[in-house]
Amino acid sequence: MNMKKIFPALMAFFVMSGHLAAEEKNISIATADTELILRVGNDGRLYQAYLGDRLQNAGEAAQVPWNLYPSPEAPNGKPGCEAYSTAGTQEFFQPAMSLTHADGNPATYLYYVSSEQQPVNGGTETVIRLRDDQYPVNVTLYYRAYHEENVIQAWTEISHDEKRPVTLTDYASCMLYFNEPAYYLTEFSGDWANEAQQSSQQLQFGKKVIDTRLGSRAAMHVSPFFEVGLGQPVAEQQGRVLMGTLGWTGNFRFTFEVDNLGNLRVISGINPSASAYRLKAGEVFRTPEFIFTLSSQGTSQGSRNLHRWALRHQVKDGTKPRMSLLNNWENTYFSFNEDKLKSLIREAKDLGVDLFLLDDGWFGNKHPRNGDNAGLGDWEANREKLPGGIGALTRAARETGVKFGIWIEPEMVNPKSELFEKHPEWVIHQPNRKPYYYRNQLVLDLSNPKVQDYVYSVVENILRENPEVAFFKWDCNSPITNAYSPYLKEEQQQLYVDYVRGLYRVLERIRTNYPDTPMMLCAGGGGRCDYGALKYFTEFWASDNTDPIERLYIQWGFSQFFPAKTICAHVTNWNRSTSVKFRTDVASMCKLGFDIGLQSLSPDERAFCRTAVANWHRLQPVILDGTQYRLVSPYESAHMAVNYVNEEGTHAVLFAYDIQPRFNDRAGRVKLQGLRPDRNYRVEEINLMPQRKPTLPEHGRTFSGDYLMKVGLDVLTGGKAVSHVVEIKAV
Ligand code: GLA
Repeated sequence: MNMKKIFPALMAFFVMSGHLAAEEKNISIATADTELILRVGNDGRLYQAYLGDRLQNAGEAAQVPWNLYPSPEAPNGKPGCEAYSTAGTQEFFQPAMSLTHADGNPATYLYYVSSEQQPVNGGTETVIRLRDDQYPVNVTLYYRAYHEENVIQAWTEISHDEKRPVTLTDYASCMLYFNEPAYYLTEFSGDWANEAQQSSQQLQFGKKVIDTRLGSRAAMHVSPFFEVGLGQPVAEQQGRVLMGTLGWTGNFRFTFEVDNLGNLRVISGINPSASAYRLKAGEVFRTPEFIFTLSSQGTSQGSRNLHRWALRHQVKDGTKPRMSLLNNWENTYFSFNEDKLKSLIREAKDLGVDLFLLDDGWFGNKHPRNGDNAGLGDWEANREKLPGGIGALTRAARETGVKFGIWIEPEMVNPKSELFEKHPEWVIHQPNRKPYYYRNQLVLDLSNPKVQDYVYSVVENILRENPEVAFFKWDCNSPITNAYSPYLKEEQQQLYVDYVRGLYRVLERIRTNYPDTPMMLCAGGGGRCDYGALKYFTEFWASDNTDPIERLYIQWGFSQFFPAKTICAHVTNWNRSTSVKFRTDVASMCKLGFDIGLQSLSPDERAFCRTAVANWHRLQPVILDGTQYRLVSPYESAHMAVNYVNEEGTHAVLFAYDIQPRFNDRAGRVKLQGLRPDRNYRVEEINLMPQRKPTLPEHGRTFSGDYLMKVGLDVLTGGKAVSHVVEIKAV
């Protein structure tokens, strides 16, 4: 008999009868410092045996006892905690997956079938196939471990061959367990103009859920990332911490559940609320990626792991430079004309930035976009404001010597638009209820392939007619409201998932056809900020709030998970009680831009801005491509400081800010990090106002890296909104 034929049949028999593995088998998913060991028990099911610092002796994986994560269902149930637990009769707590079979049975048991590992793109991919023993349901777990960066990406595929569709009501990307004496969660929540505000709490028995149901502008109230302090509260420089984020530009859910035996389950994925997914036979449901790192030296190290991984492996053009820019939004709002824009293009050149970015208000003719109540959907230059079209502006930009970028919000429509008049069936809205408008607009139905084509054509048409457009700001100002898809009809529960898939299809086409056009992601500020979107976007707008004091906190929050290169920060007129220098120094820590009327500045301020732009360009390899060390937290003091070091350790920049003077302030000196102790560095204060002398006592002197990291610099003054930028260069 042909063994090739007989073997799969035997496998199927064993799997179906649930007795495949007589012996335990350990599967190690490891980076340089972290290891996740999954174990096939002798019941044939898959368990988490270990998650923590990497074991140095591979042979000892088998020695790890079963009770690191004791099973609440023991002694007669499962021997440990299942790696991807399923709803059924053997799960007392929140499962990773709940599935109702075609016959209505809500229980699924998964048994190990096979696994393999292969090198991929700087990492090792582990694929583990599981299958139910009573129903033809397959679950495949993927783990991609990036060795050097200590980051693991995990996702899941679910499929089946049942006769009719099955219904998925939970479909996590990944499930992890910890067992520690205490757990502390740090979340990043807020609102419009108040993004990524950090707050912490201890987790006790039961569940803490962080989720969103907003759809398109999903992260308006809470960002898709979190930190869990293991055994102690989350700290910057020390302690064990899990940092996790979901790469999904839509509804997400993180569940943290502490059970009766003290295990913490961390379950991450799409928010299945209002999204019970009907999966057809043969269709593969692929979850988004959950991305995590475990640091044993606090969040500072964890962030560096994520930053490095993101720029090397995830973010569009992660290793390419970024363009500084001048935006016209806060300068003009909707009221401008060709001459005004041409004068701003000249100002951009004078400032020394790379690009002029034309914001909202340039389109719509029947319903001109002169306010936020009309025009969205009609992406044709307004003939009154711009008689020469976009072409006249790109020409002016070329002649002036700057690049030209443009704002679009292509997923949205105002009811006052020709698009809505022509295609009401393309719009997500209730057929039989009075609409509720968020910023006077509605969301296009991206589950509909025709709408996907249309949204793609917005970019295509602009670039066909104006090939010199070199940058897009892609905005998204409304959550999904009035949720009903005319396209999906009786399959409404697919809307939130299919919307994001439709969006990704559009973005994929754009990236394929226009690979060299960078795009900024924006959602009424930072209402979208995730590693799913950042495969297509080079950067994101962190917040409409550009008050530099508030930005210190907002940028601190986003920097936990995203590298400076992806975080757009603009100098504006928010909080004029602060100096232009202070505002520029705060924006210079990230991807620098300006959104301010330069004519309103004094000649000295303008001269300062030009110098700061030139410094930022010169220091891009340090600030945007170097390593970031957060030194002083604004949450723990009246100051903030951060330094960046280039890859060779020969060039660094320190940004230090005094926020608010306190009585008897004891800010102390700022000790740098990441320098080479044996090298000597010259210290120089830069970004000075014209005619201003450096105030840093160490300015112009040379110190060893050892000294700078142990004794530090006297850079905090205890003043109000005072900033220092210090360049530190090996000599
Ligand atoms: C959103 C963005 C702003 C600006 C306006 C334009 O609020 O966050 O930066 O582009 O839309 O309407």
